[in-house]
Amino acid sequence: MHKARLTRKNKTMNDRPCLWGGRFLEAPDDDLLAFGASIAIDSRMWREDIAGSLAHARMLENVGVLSGSDVKAIEAGLISIAEMFENGEFVFVESDEDIHTAVERVLVEKVGEAGKRLHTGRSRNDQVATDTRLYMKNRTSEAIGQIKALCQTIVDVAEADIDVVMPGFTHLQKAQPVLFAHHMLAYFWMFQRDQHRMAEAYRAANASPLGAAALAGTSYPLDRRATACELGFVDADGMPQVVPNSMDAVSDRDFMLDAIYAASTTMMHLSRLCEEIILWSTEEFGFISLSDAYSTGSSIMPQKKNPDFAELVRGKTGRVYGDLITLLTVLKGLPLAYNKDMQEDKEASFDALDTLEQSLSTITGMLQTMTVHKDRMSTAAQGGFMAATDLADWLAKHSLPFREAHEVVGHLVLLAEKTKRSLSELRLDELQEACSLFDESALGVTDIAAMIEARTTEGGTSTERVKEQLELAKAALAASAY
Ligand code: ARG
Repeated sequence: MHKARLTRKNKTMNDRPCLWGGRFLEAPDDDLLAFGASIAIDSRMWREDIAGSLAHARMLENVGVLSGSDVKAIEAGLISIAEMFENGEFVFVESDEDIHTAVERVLVEKVGEAGKRLHTGRSRNDQVATDTRLYMKNRTSEAIGQIKALCQTIVDVAEADIDVVMPGFTHLQKAQPVLFAHHMLAYFWMFQRDQHRMAEAYRAANASPLGAAALAGTSYPLDRRATACELGFVDADGMPQVVPNSMDAVSDRDFMLDAIYAASTTMMHLSRLCEEIILWSTEEFGFISLSDAYSTGSSIMPQKKNPDFAELVRGKTGRVYGDLITLLTVLKGLPLAYNKDMQEDKEASFDALDTLEQSLSTITGMLQTMTVHKDRMSTAAQGGFMAATDLADWLAKHSLPFREAHEVVGHLVLLAEKTKRSLSELRLDELQEACSLFDESALGVTDIAAMIEARTTEGGTSTERVKEQLELAKAALAASAY
């Protein structure tokens, strides 16, 4: 195939319009041009590309580099190109390597020479960095909003069933009873941190590379702060944010890594929640039922109701991790400044954010529509000898060293297991046989409600503490300014 390519008669520069015309006698082969193109991926940044060009053109006029009439023509041309995109009328041609070349081509078709002046003092290197930062700012803000919506849903689910008791697990073995609300709120805090991580990724993207030109800045008197302001690269006080080093400006893709990392961590948390949803909706657990809309059937087994979408989110987590490794690896060892390798940045980060977006909306809807089986949860909370710690604590509070208390209760668990009873079904004389310190009041601690209400440490599972936590969660939601 490579041979065939070499023997094919190459096109001359006159056959094909090209950005770098002057220096070249031969145009690259069609296959190579297609290989080098990124239009299929970056065309979605048309809004950002047009916004960046509008800001650049207006600034060029203000600093006296372009005439008012040229900029008027450029503005009108860019606005009509935006309308073409909006109406689905923009037609790409084979020579459109990326969104920047495509927009510029049509601009020149529309407004002629003025269009050719737009690229004054600009390179595709600072252009692509600007577009990508603008695009990632939008996508990270959307992700923040979605994570927030999920957090709100978790608060609603926790509050609706604040009195429901379930077994808490370690090693997926019953450990101690907890409130279902407490279990759900654990996820609230995970996603809260994810929201902050995503906000950090937004902040990282929020600085303008425009004006860095190819790598070294330019001899035109560009006003970088003006374009930064116009494009919304400003801090909370409205101060323009400009990347301070032109070489860093065109070669930094950390802000994309930050977003994919934030997406990866969120996906990791989602996958843990999905795993629980999958387990809880089995016949064996029976803690929840998913609504039909969030389940699928089997083509062969009529009885099946599968949690496919939770499984898919769990599976897609791997894909987002892959995106993170892709971009880390693409950037590794790249010399300054721009290198074409960096064109691979967009597919990975767009995929990560697309996958995150679908996953967040799927799981939010799933939680909103699931049914919680209170009775199954509380029945499950009866078993598993979960009162063992409380009995040992009772002994420790009555002067027996905890390690010894642990052993005494271990014997009681053996007894209960052998006689097929729960710890609360053991008689006082049996307890006393294991340890003479036991008295009547020890029987009370094996009650599920008593076990829950005893855990009053800050962040614990007692009803009061969980209510307090709910208030904290609501306050955190209200305080997040994103
Ligand atoms: N499509 C390119 C990218 O995404 C745009 C920048 C091209 N710059 C260059 N010097 N070839 O990275």
